[in-house]
Amino acid sequence: MNKERGKRVGIVGAGNVGATVAYSLAMLGTCHEIILRDNKIEVAKGKALDMSQAAAAVRSHTVVTVAEDISQLTDCDVVVVTAGSPRLPGMSRDDLLMINAKITKEVIQGIAKYSPNAIIIMVSNPLDAMTYVALKESGFDRSRVIGMAGILDSSRMAAFIQEKLGYGGGQIRASVMGGHGDDMVPLPRYSTVAGVPLSDVLTDDEINEIVHRTRHGGAEIVGYLKTGSAYYAPAKSTAIMVEAILKDTKQIHPCAVYLDGEYGYNDVVSGVPVMLGANGAEKIIEVTLDEKEKDMFKNSCASVQELIDSLNN
Ligand code: LAC
Repeated sequence: MNKERGKRVGIVGAGNVGATVAYSLAMLGTCHEIILRDNKIEVAKGKALDMSQAAAAVRSHTVVTVAEDISQLTDCDVVVVTAGSPRLPGMSRDDLLMINAKITKEVIQGIAKYSPNAIIIMVSNPLDAMTYVALKESGFDRSRVIGMAGILDSSRMAAFIQEKLGYGGGQIRASVMGGHGDDMVPLPRYSTVAGVPLSDVLTDDEINEIVHRTRHGGAEIVGYLKTGSAYYAPAKSTAIMVEAILKDTKQIHPCAVYLDGEYGYNDVVSGVPVMLGANGAEKIIEVTLDEKEKDMFKNSCASVQELIDSLNN
């Protein structure tokens, strides 16, 4: 990492998720500059000013600026892509496929041109398919195109475990693999409370309920908000990834990456434990899955594969 130069993070799409990612990062002060890019330029300018002032309030040195055109999104270390149509009530993530694939392709072409060394974090839905589109469109190495969702889904599972138990806040490690869809793969076997396996503190029925609620955690929030989808947890999960990359932490987080033989899959994107560092997804960890977990992972990969196939046809 070049320590002399400031770190610059681009965020494409300054809606609820993008703006909240920017706000989280501005409060952390890890990067020197955050550039917002949105078609609604005036709105982006207003949010950028507001956030720069919040940064000043907490003595963070981060400045938040606006790119009026994608060509101004230059030399970013990390670019977060949240652009796309949001998920509305009754709409599955997959409904968004065609519309968001088109938007993603355009955005990625710009990023590849103006920030050719960036690590791209995809947030737009359907997440795994959009990560695949971004990878192919950018021509980048797979280590530099990473999808956010595993941290979000695991955090949801952890929150549901805490709610069910009534204790253990901050001590829960929940694990979710697979795609960011209804057939994601929550892994109770790899989830713990202060190191204690979940099966020691919850019944099978309680665990099944948590698994079900995790799978539909996004839709539960859409059901309440009506006009949009979740953004605090999605944004914080994204900021955690940006932070891990900028600080070269080498921490392991569940992320969506292109599989090239790992877990027995090729040419598909799915959520797996990944070591994040300055070079992006530096290592994919292969966890031992039992037969039931393997089946669930297979189903999840098949769903993502279907989306990729329908994009290619
Ligand atoms: C969620 C949607 C946005 O999980 O995918 O909140």
